Amino acid sequence: MVMDNDIFFNEPSISAEPLRNFLSDCSRKFKEFCILDGALDIKLFDHLDNLKSADELSREIGTDYVILKNICEILLNLGFIKKEGESFKNTELSSLYLKSDSLLYQKEVLKNIKNGFELWRRLTNVLENGPIKVLEEDFFQDNLIHSLASEILCGELQKTVKIIAEFPEFKKAEKLLDLGGGHGLYSIAFTRLNKNLKAYVFDFPNVIKDTEAYIRKFKAERVNVISGNLFKDDIGKGYDIILFSYNPGGKNPNLVPKICSSLKEGGLFITKHAFYHREEGSRDYLLDVEWNLSAFEGVHKGSKIYNFAGDLSYEDYLDLLERYFSIEKIVEGDEFGSYSYLSKFGDTLGSKIIIAKKKP
Ligand SMILES: C[S@@+](CC[C@H](N)C(=O)[O-])C[C@H]1O[C@@H](n2cnc3c(N)ncnc32)[C@H](O)[C@@H]1O
Repeated sequence: MVMDNDIFFNEPSISAEPLRNFLSDCSRKFKEFCILDGALDIKLFDHLDNLKSADELSREIGTDYVILKNICEILLNLGFIKKEGESFKNTELSSLYLKSDSLLYQKEVLKNIKNGFELWRRLTNVLENGPIKVLEEDFFQDNLIHSLASEILCGELQKTVKIIAEFPEFKKAEKLLDLGGGHGLYSIAFTRLNKNLKAYVFDFPNVIKDTEAYIRKFKAERVNVISGNLFKDDIGKGYDIILFSYNPGGKNPNLVPKICSSLKEGGLFITKHAFYHREEGSRDYLLDVEWNLSAFEGVHKGSKIYNFAGDLSYEDYLDLLERYFSIEKIVEGDEFGSYSYLSKFGDTLGSKIIIAKKKP
């Protein structure tokens, strides 16, 4: 017990440094995040293909010199820009990921992290009143699929496509369903690789309009859309391949027969999800808390991130799959996922790709 008089003359018996170190990291990192976010908002990196002084930059962008000069120094310390003399210029990384005209622009990822902060700000409210109710369709449509698109373009998409494209069944495939395909980037990539392939991206109606925008952006040929709810609606028939990647139904037993009957005999079911082993605990407590800050109206979430009520464990899902399919290959997450996690929805978190062939 600290006595009133003591606190003025005796330093605390237990150092506050561990607490201060933690708060220091939080304080600094949040502000550095805001610097990068603000820099993207004013399109700073679009102006830094060539060396420019802070004075020139502030005139070009039309913003205050003093604050901009300091922001440039911070971005320099963070390694996002270089300095020669008194002038600044993009690094190679910034030219690729932080310029608004780059196909690998990552602004949507920052926006998604900020959306997450907004949810986290309501933690006390959730503790007192329960999870925030959101419509599942709105959850995906409002920026999430754009963030996921930008994230997977940093490596996961290319690695996943390579894994799938090596299958002889892919080379011969003519009809592919990208179930819960969102942005549709996998379908766009697949149809570029296989000129005989027609792909169908199935998703909620209000997500499909964004899928169509990606199809236009990449001038994709032979990529079509189907809007609906995959739990309730018909998903079509006669597919050579069904890709099912990061979807609420990913471990749901009821969808397995539905998917199987939509495939041709010998067709491939390719599922990429975070499967939990029987009795497995949390993979990340922080993400489990984030997962339960909101509740979907419709499908009920489980206690661990990416888990839903009624989901099967990895072992039980494999057993179920084997009734309809022969398992051709299982690929571990480190062969396709990113090494760095963003501590948010979208992290691969030990996901696997299971490639299964429909039994005769
Ligand atoms: C996490 S995103 C994955 C997008 C993409 N497949 C990928 O791997 O990057 C999940 C997608 O599934 C869609 N989705 C979720 N539930 C659905 C449902 N019941 N019916 C149709 N689409 C659904 C979402 O709208 C979203 O586009």
